[in-house]
Amino acid sequence: MAAEKHHRSIAPFYDLIDLPFELGRYRSIRPLLFQGLYGRLLDAGVGTGRNIAFYPSGSEVIGVDISPAMLKRAERRLPKSAARVRLMDMNLAELKFADGYFDAAVASFVFCTMPEEERVAALRELRRVVGPSGRVRLLEYAPAQASFRRVLARVWQPWVGWAFGARLDQDIELELSKASLAVTGSRYVTSSIKLVEAAPVS
Ligand SMILES: C[S@@+](CC[C@H](N)C(=O)[O-])C[C@H]1O[C@@H](n2cnc3c(N)ncnc32)[C@H](O)[C@@H]1O
Repeated sequence: MAAEKHHRSIAPFYDLIDLPFELGRYRSIRPLLFQGLYGRLLDAGVGTGRNIAFYPSGSEVIGVDISPAMLKRAERRLPKSAARVRLMDMNLAELKFADGYFDAAVASFVFCTMPEEERVAALRELRRVVGPSGRVRLLEYAPAQASFRRVLARVWQPWVGWAFGARLDQDIELELSKASLAVTGSRYVTSSIKLVEAAPVS
């Protein structure tokens, strides 16, 4: 529940403190999360709803988050959606959906905010709710490619940890396999952000 407490306190300022990152890096790469996806989609850790404007037209999206305060901010973005959207207060480590309920699950900048022990539990849940033919697609911070960027990330880390409760130096790919998800695609879309796609191991 640390994430809930943290995001409760930053929710009113989240979009403001995140704005330089949103405009400088995130906005241009968010559409990649949804490219080619359709049907019933899960936006895991929907936050203040920054992905909502990019949901595929005609699809059905459920956005879940552990923070009611963040969900309240997300509600304001619902009119920007071309999809049918529902927002739900839920812990990713204990999703209340049936096995295989979704065609795909996406998450952006969520696992970098979760404590290590929760990340694998949440990935297992994503695997369960997309079922054997589903896909999981993530935008996540990863150790930067260039060494000067890794130094820069270390300089930024105290601020990012304080403001967003996030770590910039973890590699989610290591944990996907522990959750029986096989990486089917992975590439850096900025110097320190990866787009990772995974499918359940059959
Ligand atoms: C850095 S924000 C990213 C929000 C959004 N995905 C985006 O791209 O702007 C991380 C979000 O993950 C949510 N979160 C963290 N741990 C969670 C958990 N265990 N279950 C559900 N949501 C969680 C937080 O409440 C927060 O809204």
